[in-house]
Amino acid sequence: MPKLIVVTRSGEEREVEGETGLSVMEVIRDNGFDELLALCGGCCSCATCHVHVDPEFAAKLPAMSEDEDDLLDSSSDRDARSRLACQLQFTDALDGMRVTIAAED
Ligand code: FES
Repeated sequence: MPKLIVVTRSGEEREVEGETGLSVMEVIRDNGFDELLALCGGCCSCATCHVHVDPEFAAKLPAMSEDEDDLLDSSSDRDARSRLACQLQFTDALDGMRVTIAAED
């Protein structure tokens, strides 16, 4: 299974394995990172699954939808690496990707 490296808000880094076909949000949540709230369950309406993605993987990610873009605009921690983890399907191409859980709004 491909690996995902998750960095928490306190800077703790942990490598986890993720099933392909799940979203990056589900991989993070299923591995016990409870600071990623993912309140809407992945239907792109809450922005509590906000993560910062390593720039080297940016080109491998799906394009951002208008809804995702609008939701990220509501976050004060948005930057060029921001994505909603529920909108990113985890695939073999993302093996080794590092994501940092964004600050809470
Ligand atoms: S889980 Fe709500 S927007 Fe991603």
